[in-house]
Amino acid sequence: MRVPSSIERVLLDEETIAGRVRELAAQISADYDDADALMLVGVLKGAFIFMADLSRRLTIVHHVDFIALSSYSRGATSTGAVRLIMDTRASVTGRHVLIVEDIVDTGYTLDYLLRNFRAREPASLRACALLSKSARRQVDVPVDYVGFEIPDVWVVGYGLDYADRFRTLPYIAALKREVYAR
Ligand code: PRP
Repeated sequence: MRVPSSIERVLLDEETIAGRVRELAAQISADYDDADALMLVGVLKGAFIFMADLSRRLTIVHHVDFIALSSYSRGATSTGAVRLIMDTRASVTGRHVLIVEDIVDTGYTLDYLLRNFRAREPASLRACALLSKSARRQVDVPVDYVGFEIPDVWVVGYGLDYADRFRTLPYIAALKREVYAR
């Protein structure tokens, strides 16, 4: 495995991620067994790989949809302002909706999404995040399914980026501090 020089260390390798995704998919499949078709809503861009792997492991009837947001930041500091730039194709009203995120960091994005979706009266609304960085949380937001708790380091790979790079690394790795702390 060739690791780019900007990478400090691999935190979660492919096998570890795949094992946890299988567990999450089994739990979600069991929880929604009695529900009508589940609507998965992946949050672009970061969730695209997790969404693809998670959805293919579900054993229940489900649909996939996507949403794109843009969050405003000042340098590395999130301002908490979130803007919807692409909505789901299908309506979420009356549906069982599961928001699929790659990471919950400050929580501003998921908090915005939950409030925005709740207003549209889905039958149920939950969130699944592969990663959670609880140490950075600014808003107390509920995450129903969490893959891994991770430390407060900049992580890339498996959908996550730094300046839109490293998204397609098959593992999740910590970036060297000197790359992002300029
Ligand atoms: C990332 C991630 C979440 C959000 C979490 O998206 O995919 O949506 O940040 O951060 P928060 O909890 O602090 O709000 P980003 O804005 O980097 O866009 P991207 O998914 O297109 O990379």
